Amino acid sequence: MRRYVRHGVLTQLAVFEAVARHSSFTHAGEELHMAQPTVSLHIKKLCDTMALPLFETIGRRLCLTAAGREVHAAAQDIFRRIAELDARLAMLRTASSGDLRIAVSTTGKYFAPRLLADFWRAHPDVHISLLVLNRQHLLSRLQANADDLYIFSNPPEQEAMILHTLLANPMELYASAHHPLARRRHLKFEDIASEPFLMREPGSGTRLVAETYYAQHDARPNVRMELGSNEAIKQAIIAGLGISLLSRHTVGNATRGKGLVALQVEGLPIQRYWYLAYPESNRLSPVAQAFVEQVTGMTGTDRPTTLPHAA
Ligand code: PGA
Repeated sequence: MRRYVRHGVLTQLAVFEAVARHSSFTHAGEELHMAQPTVSLHIKKLCDTMALPLFETIGRRLCLTAAGREVHAAAQDIFRRIAELDARLAMLRTASSGDLRIAVSTTGKYFAPRLLADFWRAHPDVHISLLVLNRQHLLSRLQANADDLYIFSNPPEQEAMILHTLLANPMELYASAHHPLARRRHLKFEDIASEPFLMREPGSGTRLVAETYYAQHDARPNVRMELGSNEAIKQAIIAGLGISLLSRHTVGNATRGKGLVALQVEGLPIQRYWYLAYPESNRLSPVAQAFVEQVTGMTGTDRPTTLPHAA
C-alpha cells in the first residue's frame, strides 16, 4: 500500500484509464490537457510500480496486457467508489438530501412523527429514520454516537449535551374510569400511596420519574406488574389492574371515552419537558442542523438548556 501511495498511483491510474479507453497516448493527453510525453511518463511510472508492462502494441494497435486488464478493472472499481463517495459527500454538504437518524424514547413517539412530517414536507428528498426505544437504550446509542439527534424527556445529566426544549410533558397518575378514586377531587398522595401500581420496565425514563415521585414522599410504589410499553400499561389500567404514572402524550388530552382518568392528586401533573438533544462534541450534518432549526424555530447558535430538577 505504501508503495502505491508514495508513487501517486491515483493520478497515474486516471491517465492509464484514459489511455486504455482511447487506445492512444495522444488522445488521452488531449482529454486530460496533458502533453504526450507527460502521459507516457505517468504510464511508465505506473508500470514500474506494478513491476509489469500494462500495454503492448499488436500490429499498430495499443492493447492492454493481462496485467493491464487487471489494473484496468481495479481502476474502474476505484473510480466508481470515488464517484459514489463524491455523491455522498455532496449530499452531506446540503440539507436538501441525505439521511436524518433520530432516536426517540417510547413516550416521545406520540408526537415525534408530527415533527418529522413537517420537516419532510420541506425536505422531501431526505431519508428519515425514527427509532423508538426506551431511555436506557437511547443512552447506549448515544454512547455509540449511532444517531444524529435524540428526543428525551429525561436526558442524561452527566453527559455534555446540547438540549433544546421542545414542549411540555405533563405526567399524570391514570386510573380506570371505574376506579373508586376516579371521581374524587383533591386527593392527597396518601390516598393513592398504596394503590397497586403498573410499572414500566427497568431502563424506562417514565419508570425513573415514577420512582422519584414516590421517593419524594418517602414511599415506594406498590408494584403489581411490570409492563414493557405505555400501550400495555394503558390497557392494564383500563382492565382495572392498577394505576400508573404516564406522560399525558401517551393518553391524549381528552381521556373521556378512553376508559382512563387522570387522578386529581395534589402536586400533579408533574411538569416535565421534551428535549431535542445531541452531544456537545458532535458536529451536526446540514440535514440535522436544518431539522433542529425548523423544529426549535431558532437560527442562532445552540445554547445548552439547564435541566429542570428531576420530578
Ligand atoms: P421512556 O421515555 O419511558 O420510554 O424511557 C421517557 C424518557 O424519555 O426518559
